Amino acid sequence: MGELSVKHLLGIKYLKESDIQLIFETADHFKEVINRSIKKVPSLRDITIANVFFENSTRTRLSFELAEKRLSADVINFSAAQSSVKKGETLIDTVNNILSMKVDMVVMRHPNPGAGIFLSKNVKASIVNAGDGAHEHPTQALLDSYSIREKLGDVAGKNVVIVGDILHSRVALSNIFALQLQGANVKVCGPKTLLPKHVESLGVTVETNLRKALNWCDVANMLRIQNERLDISYFPTTREYTQQFGVNKALLDSLDKEIVIMHPGPINRGVEITSDVADSKQSIILNQVENGVAIRMAVIYLLASKIK
Ligand code: CP
Repeated sequence: MGELSVKHLLGIKYLKESDIQLIFETADHFKEVINRSIKKVPSLRDITIANVFFENSTRTRLSFELAEKRLSADVINFSAAQSSVKKGETLIDTVNNILSMKVDMVVMRHPNPGAGIFLSKNVKASIVNAGDGAHEHPTQALLDSYSIREKLGDVAGKNVVIVGDILHSRVALSNIFALQLQGANVKVCGPKTLLPKHVESLGVTVETNLRKALNWCDVANMLRIQNERLDISYFPTTREYTQQFGVNKALLDSLDKEIVIMHPGPINRGVEITSDVADSKQSIILNQVENGVAIRMAVIYLLASKIK
């Protein structure tokens, strides 16, 4: 088996196309493992991993923990809300205290963009970025591309539209990098106020008409509005946003072709996507969640092999 070109997973921006293919091939193996009656392998019995979460999470935190346990790693979980961070302890002090308990790898979610990069330069451990503010969410983009590959056979040449709050979305940025690295065509669609200025400089095209964007694409990745990152109002009302940028079953059924619907979660049912779309045959939302475990097993396994 090959090895990754990086020691940490800080963002898709730092990966090569060959890294993504290696992660996918390794995930194929682990997906087979987690579908066996005994879902565990002894690969990382000598590795200890800390999951350090400074921001809320359901999918990512549970998926990393499960991936680590399936690989037989020792796991400790840290949540900032119940920690001495509340007493003023700094990020580096917090992580160095965790590392002094002989931890090999830190999986971190943090509200500040670049927090993982900062940590990787200041502590001795392999760092995995589980989402840093509005910057990157690399394992989400990897599991998204892996799910497209599983559903459509390949990512190269596919038309993918990312719809919604592109401005505040780490999922959007990581997906743009990952999809382009694999040769997909990427469009972004949303209100002008939620599209970054000069977004075309990332090599994507812009469409503000949702129907046109959906008729162009093979896959639509629907994002939620990142209300926790909005300091001002970016659109008049949620109802108006839904009318212009929400996908409902009538719209989906009226398109020229059958498209694949994705969503990184958490879903705001009835805002960016209606329940009958989220739960339809065209939706692969729960496949994304399932694939997240295999992808995270692959990432941790490949990074751990660089520690030993
Ligand atoms: N997709 C995602 O990152 O979900 P969580 O915030 O629940 O981890």
